[in-house]
Amino acid sequence: MIDRKTGVGALILAAGKGTRMHSDKPKVLQSLLGEPMLSHVYAALYNLFGEAIWAVVGFHSSQVRDAFQGSPLHFIEQKQQLGTGHAVLCALPDLEKAGIETLLVVNGDTPLVTENIFEHILQQAGEADFCVATLDLDDPGSFGRIVRKNGQPAAIIEAKDYDERLFGPASGEINAGIYVLRLSTMSSLLEKLTNDNRSGEFYLTDLLAMAIEAGLTIRGISCGKNLDLLGVNSPSELAEAEKRRKKQRVDEMLQKGVLIHGDDVAIGPFVDIAPGAEIYSPCELYGKTCIQSGAIIASHCRIRQSHIASGARIESFCWLENAQIGANCTVGPYARLRPGAVMEDESHIGNFVELKQARLGRGVKANHLTYLGDADIGSCTNIGAGTIICNYDGVTKHKTHIGEHAFIGSNTALVAPVSLGKNVLIGAGSVITKDVPDDTLAVTRPVLRTCRRKKA
Ligand code: UD1
Ligand code: CA
Repeated sequence: MIDRKTGVGALILAAGKGTRMHSDKPKVLQSLLGEPMLSHVYAALYNLFGEAIWAVVGFHSSQVRDAFQGSPLHFIEQKQQLGTGHAVLCALPDLEKAGIETLLVVNGDTPLVTENIFEHILQQAGEADFCVATLDLDDPGSFGRIVRKNGQPAAIIEAKDYDERLFGPASGEINAGIYVLRLSTMSSLLEKLTNDNRSGEFYLTDLLAMAIEAGLTIRGISCGKNLDLLGVNSPSELAEAEKRRKKQRVDEMLQKGVLIHGDDVAIGPFVDIAPGAEIYSPCELYGKTCIQSGAIIASHCRIRQSHIASGARIESFCWLENAQIGANCTVGPYARLRPGAVMEDESHIGNFVELKQARLGRGVKANHLTYLGDADIGSCTNIGAGTIICNYDGVTKHKTHIGEHAFIGSNTALVAPVSLGKNVLIGAGSVITKDVPDDTLAVTRPVLRTCRRKKA
């Protein structure tokens, strides 16, 4: 962790629309392994910079701010996206107020960057006024090209503006979009940027040549061929980046001792899986999901922001979001656990069972075709096939309580708000609209009428 007193901060450039993504969603919110690209960049910075991190936002900025509600990330508005240099200029007043002297700037569309990369760049930057991280590619493509003179970086020229007659044939050395600026010297140069180029934008990259011109120290920090620094500008680049990080995450887990079967397991950046857990492909695990040792996730599951305790078994085709699964529970196949589903240890839910804001006490069983919403169910209760909690009256959601050791017969409708005591027995096919006290049998059932049929 950097000593904050030294006035070191980080700025993420995230105001652009991302025209090449062909989407109305701001580019930095495009998802990579279940998280916005910006979250990946922010997470890589967080351990180094803590609360000294700012993001410049502009295009649909409220969407970006909303996605980071509650996080200590600071936002700066760039009302018009006039270029990367202009974005940094917009941030200067806030950065100065916060006493930032050394500023690491990173494009918000480089989602694979890591804490180690940032650490390396900061170390290499030393006391220089302007540093830029560079990459060696076989083909410089649409990236800004590094022009060297006498072996030293002399300018960064955008692909559009690159003229071979002036700069010679382009090498594969490109600008990775990560910079370190000493603000005491660079602020005044930022104010002098012009937009005299093919895009009509104020390019941050022009600072390199301007710093040299002003007699300041500059440094190119070579990051070799590390493709984790590549920017993402198009759907196919996003797909490539996702594929790369997906493989990296699986490799990390395998090394740690997680058992992974098959080759299509997606593990988000914030997912934590303990050694000895077992995952079958295909499967998607996202958010701050935590899977303990000995838990088994069968194929075709999608799990987000959930906790799965040891010995639990999630069978195929289950969806879980914001769910807590206790030790030795079984779930599915074909179950859906929506936010607020809590299964205490040893409880079971089977096929076509849906839970929402429902706590199932220890040892509860709901094995078939059931909806349990806004409910609290005591331990060891058995919920028969086809039980539906009617929690919504068209206006409000209501709660249902069921005590422990109850037995709810098949095809029962529990019309909330309703409370069933412990050890109740509800006859199959009942519609329960009133509370049932402890140790009571309750049954509502239309009278069975019979008459003889005439013979045909
Ligand atoms: C930029 C660099 C290029 C480098 C490449 C690396 C410039 C001029 N060019 O090009 O040299 O090789 O990154 O990936 O910087 N943004 C704003 N405000 C703006 C414009 C952009 O915040 O007014 C943000 C974008 O949201 C994005 C980042 O800055 O996250 C980079 O912008 P982008 O348009 O993607 O630049 P590139 O063309 O990729
Ligand atoms: Ca880019």
